[in-house]
Amino acid sequence: MYENPRLLLDSSSALTPGSITWRSPSNIAIVKYWGKHGLQLPKNPSISFTLSSSFTDMRLEYQLRESSEQGIQLEFLFHQEPNEAFRLKIKQFLEKLLPIFPFLGQLDLQIQSGNSFPHSAGIASSASSMSALALCLCSLEDRLFGTLQEGQEFDKKSSLIARLGSGSACRSIFPYASVWGKTSVHLESSDEFGVGAEGMLHEVFKDFHDDILIVSKEEKAVSSRAGHALMEGNPFATSRYEQANKNMLQLAEALEQGDVHRFGKIAEEEALTLHALMMCSNPSFMLMRPNSLAILEKVRAYRSDTGHPVFFTLDAGPNVHLLYPGEIIHEVRAFIEAELKPLCEEGYYLQDWVGEGPEEL
Ligand code: PMV
Repeated sequence: MYENPRLLLDSSSALTPGSITWRSPSNIAIVKYWGKHGLQLPKNPSISFTLSSSFTDMRLEYQLRESSEQGIQLEFLFHQEPNEAFRLKIKQFLEKLLPIFPFLGQLDLQIQSGNSFPHSAGIASSASSMSALALCLCSLEDRLFGTLQEGQEFDKKSSLIARLGSGSACRSIFPYASVWGKTSVHLESSDEFGVGAEGMLHEVFKDFHDDILIVSKEEKAVSSRAGHALMEGNPFATSRYEQANKNMLQLAEALEQGDVHRFGKIAEEEALTLHALMMCSNPSFMLMRPNSLAILEKVRAYRSDTGHPVFFTLDAGPNVHLLYPGEIIHEVRAFIEAELKPLCEEGYYLQDWVGEGPEEL
């Protein structure tokens, strides 16, 4: 879609070395993306909240290449240390992007990246890191060629590039919330890139919290690539995609009306469906741990005892995301400290909230 052989530097041009830095957050899906086709295209639309305190800072340094080497020349530092595994992954990805950003083959690149959350916290960093990388690349294109200044072109292209890196990363580009995948609830929605969905939110959802209860810091038992692929043979795949489309419509109404209970019912249904789909895939995966289940039960009991709108969602792993409006933060934090923290690995949980999206530093 964005292939552009003209984005090449003139061989006679002198280029001052420079750098670009972006901070980009993670996001948490409410209607989940699970199942893909083609080049990271989603089988169903999804919607997420953009988070704040879980982010990646990425600095991209560039200078004109003097050697005649071909392809991508990349140094990569993660938290100030060389990391060969990450370097190779990013190098391969940048090589795939050469038809879109041909000038990358004329530069020597150095990337320094770091996350605000510990690497071994069992939290996926692909959404924050791939969106940060996509933003750096689009800023670089714009700095060198002035091509992305029109209207929403910059957001569209950075979201599309982030999607090619990791599907759900395309939703991290936008403040507060984002929709990805063609759906009637958002006129500009597309399978190719995410779109901002702030306009779909009642004020109450702009002040929502997401405390992430770390039940296990271990790496995920199944990669999301393998997980998506398992949907191919899943006997419930068709009805799942219908359900996701229906949930998008209902969630859009709840978000607009500020109906937190209806929102929470859909969020929990989506989380449990994601895990149910994995349990009945072949091979089957059980990604919750006993403490995940204990937390879900405690959250439901707390809600029915107090009437407080506290809900859970889950990613493809054992950790539990607790969603609730800011006005009950003191009550919920007291509940977490007393009843949920003991169920977390080493009592560890992260405090996050809906936020304003990436920023260039
Ligand atoms: O973006 P991926 O390929 O890592 O898939 C993410 C899938 C879920 O996190 C489980 C759901 C979602 O929509 O973010």
